Amino acid sequence: MERRRWLMFAVFSFLLVCSSGRELKLKSKGHVPVYNHTLVTIVVHYASAVYMSDLTALFTWTCSRCDGVTEGFEVIELVVDVQNCLQAFVGVAKDLNAIIIAFRGTQEHSIQNWIEDLYWKQLDIEYPGMPDDAMVHHGFFSAYHNTTIRHGILDAVKRAKKYYGDIDVIVTGHSMGGAMASFCGLDLIVNRKSKNVQVITFGQPRVGNEAFASQYSKLVPNTIRVTNGHDIVPHLPPYYSYFPRKTYHHFPREVWLHNIGLGSLVYNVEKICDGSGEDPECSRSVSGNSISDHLSYYGVDLMGETWRSCRIVVDPGLMEYSRTDIRGNLLLSRDPKTVLKLNNVANPL
Ligand SMILES: *[C@@H]1O[C@H](CO)[C@@H](O)[C@H](O)[C@H]1NC(C)=O
Ligand SMILES: *[C@@H]1O[C@H](CO)[C@@H](O)[C@H](O)[C@H]1NC(C)=O
Repeated sequence: MERRRWLMFAVFSFLLVCSSGRELKLKSKGHVPVYNHTLVTIVVHYASAVYMSDLTALFTWTCSRCDGVTEGFEVIELVVDVQNCLQAFVGVAKDLNAIIIAFRGTQEHSIQNWIEDLYWKQLDIEYPGMPDDAMVHHGFFSAYHNTTIRHGILDAVKRAKKYYGDIDVIVTGHSMGGAMASFCGLDLIVNRKSKNVQVITFGQPRVGNEAFASQYSKLVPNTIRVTNGHDIVPHLPPYYSYFPRKTYHHFPREVWLHNIGLGSLVYNVEKICDGSGEDPECSRSVSGNSISDHLSYYGVDLMGETWRSCRIVVDPGLMEYSRTDIRGNLLLSRDPKTVLKLNNVANPL
């Protein structure tokens, strides 16, 4: 019986994938973000590139992950919070006609330690400006709101919009960077009155409770939260169905990547989940027991070249673009108008 049900499910999913192709569209009441496979598989390369530690190569978009579908991207701000080991950039992708903001996942300690800590994160602060029962974890909140990162990002978005007009903003990040991306998208919409903001995260942990998730999804409806196979991180901090008000709760819209085997054939399925944020038929239907599923999405590596690489590598040629704040954090920034000039500096040959 179990086996038959499973097989029917597999066949059904397979038919679903075949019939609607890769660009699945969901129609239902209210606003539902469209999952665009092409766009998401471009954006995952930005979430990957932000892990690179050679800041010169990243700033001039010449790093080893800075080519292919992201070629021609122009970084206008690169922010490194040295104290907290955080990194993010803002730039313009002309082919997407969009400003892209990308946040790096955690780099300090080992990934195992970081994941173990996630089990114990408390819902310990109220999210400002939301109903009192909307709670988040202060560590996730502070990583975006209480570091050098936020100011650098908001300033760069303002500069980019001045030059390029009110184009779309896509905010992305992997793991902890996904948590920061969701706070940033919310911040742009609520505090900067930005429109056309889209958030696309990969393997992000839960960041708040149900009251937070519900407010978040009203304010940032254009959110795609991609999960992969048995990736452990989207399962954390834990969700306890018997404490609905006190527990962490994901916001929608999850898209769960997984494989379905039919006999000797294996199909990649991209399942668009329900609007609850906690679809029991998606990532939650399997146990979160894989770190390797966390580190690669759509076949793209989402991790640094090494752990503990909070070091700074900058070419002296970039000094005119860099400044440090009083806490020793580094910001590389430029006016979008100076892009041509910078390319000359970066490629003297
Ligand atoms: C999906 O995104 C790509 C890249 O931005 C775009 O060219 C394409 O038109 C989008 N497709 C849909 C159906 O919106
Ligand atoms: C913000 O950071 C400062 C110094 O790092 C700290 O004292 C303060 O408690 C933090 N605030 C929040 C809300 O985390």
